[in-house]
Amino acid sequence: MSATTTTASATAAAPAQAGQRGSYWITTFGCQMNKADSERMAGILEGMGYQPGSDEHSADLVLYNTCTIRDNAEQKVYSYLGRQAQRKRTNPHLTLVVAGCVAQQEGESLLRRVPELDLVMGPQHANRLDTLLEQVASGQQVVATGEHHILEDITTARRDSQVCAWVNVIYGCNERCTYCVVPSVRGKEQSRSPGAIRLEMEGLAERGFKEITLLGQNIDAYGRDLPGITPQGRRQHTLTDLLHHVHDVAGIERIRFATSHPRYFTERLIDACAELPKLCEHFHIPFQSGDDDVLKAMARGYTVDRYRRILERIRERMPDAAISADVIVAFPGESDAQYRRTLALIEAIGFDQVNTAAYSPRPNTPAADWPDQLPEAVKVERLQELNALVERTARQRSERYLGRIEQVLVEGTNPRDPGQRMGRTRTNRLTFFPDLAPSRSPAELEGGIIQPGDLVNVRIEKVRAFSLTGVALG
Ligand code: SAH
Ligand code: SF4
Ligand code: F3S
Repeated sequence: MSATTTTASATAAAPAQAGQRGSYWITTFGCQMNKADSERMAGILEGMGYQPGSDEHSADLVLYNTCTIRDNAEQKVYSYLGRQAQRKRTNPHLTLVVAGCVAQQEGESLLRRVPELDLVMGPQHANRLDTLLEQVASGQQVVATGEHHILEDITTARRDSQVCAWVNVIYGCNERCTYCVVPSVRGKEQSRSPGAIRLEMEGLAERGFKEITLLGQNIDAYGRDLPGITPQGRRQHTLTDLLHHVHDVAGIERIRFATSHPRYFTERLIDACAELPKLCEHFHIPFQSGDDDVLKAMARGYTVDRYRRILERIRERMPDAAISADVIVAFPGESDAQYRRTLALIEAIGFDQVNTAAYSPRPNTPAADWPDQLPEAVKVERLQELNALVERTARQRSERYLGRIEQVLVEGTNPRDPGQRMGRTRTNRLTFFPDLAPSRSPAELEGGIIQPGDLVNVRIEKVRAFSLTGVALG
């Protein structure tokens, strides 16, 4: 579950048809929050009469849902925009939209940089896309980046998967990690009510979805902005209470959540995950650095020891649990010895997956102004060494699956081999296996025996760092 891949993914892929409004294309950068927002915006566009387009360069409306977590993510958007701006000069009917975190960060200055834009809209405005496009239709260039109370999610998302769905539970982030742009682009924490979350999950179950990932930038903060105190004097609404509240939605087989913050991760939460059968044994808990002084400079609010104790407790209760994390190297002032503590922590824990990044200075964040920035060469060198270690530990962790029988939730077909089905273990390892159908031609596989949404027992015969291959046991 990568929280921050900045690769572009396209939401609309069906063939173009002349819709009432023409065709649309969405390219999504960044994390799962953005992907979830894109699915809702695609749903809104289809509700307005737009049809999915076949490619970015012929669609009548092009929307880039952008990410600014690191500089390279931001820069990518400008090169995409350059090409569309050129197209707009010869095709004035093209509607050009920039949504997401770059839109929020840059606001009006994006219009100065790319005057061809019709709409610049921050993430808090995703559910208002239709209203904003009506303003565009009346001839305005629109910038929507004000602090906005996110209206209850009444939109019908156009989900990319038929099996796994994201459900936002808390928007925004109130932390102030010194490197991070998210609080300034995503705004203050806003929790949805447990009732609304459960209702959305019931609707998804009715439509055949089997797996739900509950989403928040700091999901452990869920509920702290909602009123209510229990007779024992604790907050009434916590992530743990939410998990209990939604766990029995009929038809949903698996529940995951991300992203966890070590500062707020509780024993109660670990106990709930161990006790509630649908909760999967996979935890994404970024640690960012293996050195206490760097953690302090990052304002993370925990020590390495506290982090290790959380993982020990998880492994006591769920010995096979998979652990993934995010880490930053070459944070301002990080010494070689401090960096080596990060490597040592990865080695000691044995992570199943780690998203790695070299520190990138971001606008409106304290660390960007510190004098002890590290040179590019150090960033590159540390990142390369770190990535090699991450791959080695992931491979070691994969070995435990060899010969085991794993329950796999089938999501679709291996894009590289139509004869193979593809899904995930409860621990989130991507797993491939041949369908049980006797014929392997793609056409016949359309009606193959194993379908997306099935839970299949797979004996694992081959392991790689980040994926597995096996045979289905019927
Ligand atoms: N809310 C999550 C992470 C959100 S951002 C958390 O608290 O961990 C996703 C990841 O991007 C972070 O975990 C961090 O590893 C990385 N990241 C954020 N800002 C960064 C920066 N300025 N430079 C490099 N990596 C960064
Ligand atoms: Fe950024 Fe920290 Fe909030 Fe995560 S918890 S989104 S790293 S400020
Ligand atoms: Fe990127 Fe915004 Fe997510 S900056 S990581 S898309 S919250």
